[in-house]
Amino acid sequence: MKENLILIAYIISAILFIIGIKRLGKVDTARQGNFLSAVGMLIAIIATLFMMDAIPLEWVLTGIAIGAIIGAVSATKVAMTAMPEMVAIFNGFGGGASALVASAEFFKIHGGSAANNDTTTLITIMLSVIIGSLTFTGSFIAWGKLQGKISGQPITYPGQNMVNGLILVGMVIFGYLAVTNMSGFVAETTEINMLWFSVVIVIGLFLGILSVLPIGGADMPVVISLLNSYSGIAAAMTGFVLQNHALIVSGCLVGASGLFLTNIMCKGMNRSLGNVLFSAFGKVDESAVQKTTSGVTVKEMSPDNAAYTMQAAESVIIVPGYGMAVAQAQHEVRKLSDELEKTGVDVKFAVHPVAGRMPGHMNVLLAEANISYDKLFDMDEINDDFASTDVALIIGANDVVNPAARHDESSPIYGMPILNVDQAKTTFVLKRSMNPGFAGISNELFGYENNYMVFGDAKATVSQFVETLKE
Ligand code: TAP
Repeated sequence: MKENLILIAYIISAILFIIGIKRLGKVDTARQGNFLSAVGMLIAIIATLFMMDAIPLEWVLTGIAIGAIIGAVSATKVAMTAMPEMVAIFNGFGGGASALVASAEFFKIHGGSAANNDTTTLITIMLSVIIGSLTFTGSFIAWGKLQGKISGQPITYPGQNMVNGLILVGMVIFGYLAVTNMSGFVAETTEINMLWFSVVIVIGLFLGILSVLPIGGADMPVVISLLNSYSGIAAAMTGFVLQNHALIVSGCLVGASGLFLTNIMCKGMNRSLGNVLFSAFGKVDESAVQKTTSGVTVKEMSPDNAAYTMQAAESVIIVPGYGMAVAQAQHEVRKLSDELEKTGVDVKFAVHPVAGRMPGHMNVLLAEANISYDKLFDMDEINDDFASTDVALIIGANDVVNPAARHDESSPIYGMPILNVDQAKTTFVLKRSMNPGFAGISNELFGYENNYMVFGDAKATVSQFVETLKE
């Protein structure tokens, strides 16, 4: 009876996870999706507590209380721009936890007290330990790169991918040795199994470090999404070891959605996952920087004149980018949109799938500033509208509006779908200097006949627009 009730609770939580993840896919239902998934997790935790007769409840509750406090405080305090770092740390702990639980099961088999010691259990233990340990260290390297604690430059040496490949092969061989003869546990072989098991953990931890170091800091969001997927796979493997259905389902959902997200991000940048992981993209190319600071003649406009132009326009499309997040200009942007609408201007927002540095970055910031969802348009929905728009206002965006992506085959962003801002009658680009964006390349839009640069910090410039419009 008790087992059936627990199973029913797990099925309910699995259904809530699935509905939750579906709802997370749209901005207006995302909060509800998050809530439903959290309720699902609560039900799964309570059901699991009823199952765990062997562990004193006060230990478990103390652990839950400590974790809940740390989680609540860090989630409340984290700055919106530091979300990728926080997700990286959570992934790391998720992977580490799966590796520890799987290790505990290995020790049980080693000590002869495990209920299951069949080959399938041993293989899933090794997979959980391998994936979990490399997720743990890899995530902390990603965190360090984003925080600037470790150089954001790709750290490379000749033959690096080959060395990492050999380490991976070595780990699989040692993993095989660690579990050989343990099925049915032959006592005299288990000490040597323990040695190989320790070697696998150490190599796993090293591989996490070595595989993330060569990737440039700006690619970390893709890496974090991939590591998120790994942490889910490690959790699902641990679920098989423990024969816990809720862990298997939630792990598979995290694993699959992390992979989908990684794929979406790669597609949005027109790069393959292999290119992100193995090409050391993001190394500073001095010639590209030179090209950005010289050769392009640009026209400047003062914030006041730009504001008057927008006031006289019929339609304005605002294109937010990474610089808006850095400047934390979203609240000022909301005020600007309100002021323009007061004077009868039609205002829309065009959101590129990889604008900013993490999936949904712009949607989250604009939602934080209470900009209505019906004003936000995805690239495919709005791209045709630019041709009939008076002003495209580009706030801290660069690569996602670079027309070179359409025709310059030598450009690293060639083929990346971009927002067609250049088709608007006039474009204003708000940024602080002629420095390049993430891809490190010049933007030919800046030199176009219909483009004007409005230099300065995005928040200060947009505030100035609002002031001018109010006068
Ligand atoms: P970027 O091309 O990175 O350009 C951002 C621009 O913002 C820079 O040119 C910078 O110029 C300006 N900026 C920075 N701080 C500013 C401030 N305080 N005020 C005004 N401007 C400021 O941004 P994007 O167009 O959003 O493109 C995103 C890039 O990131 C793409 O290349 C994409 O592939 C990559 N990427 C995205 C993701 C996801 S999932 N979103 C993940 C990985 C990589 P100044 O320094 O001159 O001000």
